[in-house]
Amino acid sequence: MAIFISDDKISEIRNTTDIVDIISDVVSLKKAGKNYIGLCPFHTEKTPSFNVSPDKQIFHCFGCGIGGDVFSFLMKHDGLSFPEAVRIVATRYGIEIPTQRLSPGQKRKINERENLLNVNRQAMNYFRHSLLERASGKKAMEYLNKRGITKDTIESFVLGYVPEGWDNLTNFLIKKKMSSTFLEKSGLIISRKSSSGHYDRFRNRIIFPIFNVSRQVIGFGGRVMDDSDPKYLNSPETPVYNKSRSLYGLNMAKDKCRESKTVFIVEGYFDLLALHQHGIINSVATLGTSLTMDHVRILRGYIGKTGRVVLVYDSDDAGLKAAYRSIEIFDKGYVDARILVLPTGYDPDSYIFKFGKKSFMDAFSRAPGIIPFLIDFAEKKHGDSIEGKIRIISELKGPLAAIKDNVARSLYVKELSERLGIDETAILEKVRDISAKNKAKESKIGLKPIYPSNLQKKGKKSEYYGRTSNESKNRIERQIIAMMLQFPKILHEIKERDVLDCFVDSNLKSIGQSILDYKEKLYNHDRAPGDEHEFANGNRVSEFMNFIDDQEKKSIITSLALEEESWELEGCIKLITQFVETSRNRRSKGFIEKQIKEAEEKNDQELLIKLLIEKQNMAVLKQKQKMALLNRSIREA
Ligand code: UTP
Ligand code: MN
Repeated sequence: MAIFISDDKISEIRNTTDIVDIISDVVSLKKAGKNYIGLCPFHTEKTPSFNVSPDKQIFHCFGCGIGGDVFSFLMKHDGLSFPEAVRIVATRYGIEIPTQRLSPGQKRKINERENLLNVNRQAMNYFRHSLLERASGKKAMEYLNKRGITKDTIESFVLGYVPEGWDNLTNFLIKKKMSSTFLEKSGLIISRKSSSGHYDRFRNRIIFPIFNVSRQVIGFGGRVMDDSDPKYLNSPETPVYNKSRSLYGLNMAKDKCRESKTVFIVEGYFDLLALHQHGIINSVATLGTSLTMDHVRILRGYIGKTGRVVLVYDSDDAGLKAAYRSIEIFDKGYVDARILVLPTGYDPDSYIFKFGKKSFMDAFSRAPGIIPFLIDFAEKKHGDSIEGKIRIISELKGPLAAIKDNVARSLYVKELSERLGIDETAILEKVRDISAKNKAKESKIGLKPIYPSNLQKKGKKSEYYGRTSNESKNRIERQIIAMMLQFPKILHEIKERDVLDCFVDSNLKSIGQSILDYKEKLYNHDRAPGDEHEFANGNRVSEFMNFIDDQEKKSIITSLALEEESWELEGCIKLITQFVETSRNRRSKGFIEKQIKEAEEKNDQELLIKLLIEKQNMAVLKQKQKMALLNRSIREA
């Protein structure tokens, strides 16, 4: 049942949580001053700019601008809804969430995602039951036994079976009062083309539930038990299932990945089960798609910056294709990748059952990196005649040119030159030709920087991603917001002097307004004499963030809250005084100029003279102010 979580409960959960603890699960963090830093899981970077503040209970990446509290982290990283994130944190800290009956209004509001996860879980249980308890499950059990899958594996991966027939699951779910239109969204049932009604996607198949790292069921794979076609069927992408971000077995593998700083990637469900069953727990499988940059980023969160990704393939051909495809992915992800090609005729499943864990690990210890793998392969293919060497270079110049990291590229060029006995500069020249061509192409297409994918979709190229000229214009406005977040003593002054009215940047202005509103709300609710409700203290900033829906604004807030500055009242008042004066001056100057223009157009000489004198006076006044400031600073110096 979906649940309604009260604001109080959410506050309690937030205040119990340690954001460092939660984020450490997926990002390796190091202490740096008051904060922790690590490589951002939302964009690719070499040097850590991802900050987590235990004091403020927020995170912020100064590289890509993403930021928020513990819940927004989980929402983004694991693709969860807000209630899901809250519940996961609560479970972790042993906080019970009282369940409440939902009003129809609340019911309607319940997230579609939660319902889909719920359907998936029920379907998983149905499949499990069919495998373990029903007579028809017997032949499925026999099939699994025949393939060496143990009872333990069946249990921990919650394998299942769906019997023969067109509507086993459809009927089961519809009996539970779930609408068929909604069920269609889960991908489990499909609407009939020629007549009305629905039928099961998976029929007479072994079922593999696919879990996310939080152990929610996001989709399924199903295998036939004979050699009919298609061998495997998979859930389509749904609001809870994104293939390019999901890895089969990751929920089981993640701790071991972190511990061993290594992850094996295989292609098939059975390959994964076989490795796991032989004690190679740090393995995952891609799900009928090739490895993506998102996969690599997610894995890097566990294995760390110096970790190793081992791509396991069952043939040279598959390995080769993957190697070519992977160069860019891994180079950009800055991960050490190895290619492990098993002897002809074996896939990880059949290999490990036949030769055992030790032999597999031996093969792993000899597995080359991507470029050495390509060099090996090209050497084998073309031989070491002069013509062969020329072919080798022309085959490899593309992959070498694709390596963005200069140091890595030079090292590989050096290796190739040593192995072929050809001058390094000659090889470099070939590679440079290609690089230049690539660059020209890129600049024509306008290669996009890598943004977190969920933000990219909105097509908003927001200011906070890069330093734009606006940013310097906004410098003082940003400073004032930082002051408001970190030094709440100033809030009264900001409000009394209508400082926000002078803001030009609408985002900053609205953040400032939200801070004032939030303060008001706090003051009315839990009035504590003398308590300044410092945002900077405790969890106030992260609590406040909850009132902000807009991602761009959240990002601005976390970045400003994290910039460490020390504030003292006098300096702050000076800054806002100056800000208010200059912006009012600017405004009135603009106003006079507009009037002058109008007077000119109307040819109103009398008014024109009056206005010109006024303008002159203003300039004099400004000059005087400038001189006064100058004198004061000379005196103070
Ligand atoms: P393989 O054809 O290599 O099969 O597909 P496998 O994993 O060795 O399976 P077994 O050992 O014969 O049972 C590798 C992976 O590609 C996807 C599946 O994820 C599969 O595990 N695949 C394959 C499909 O999605 N659909 C298919 O029809 C075949
Ligand atoms: Mn296989």
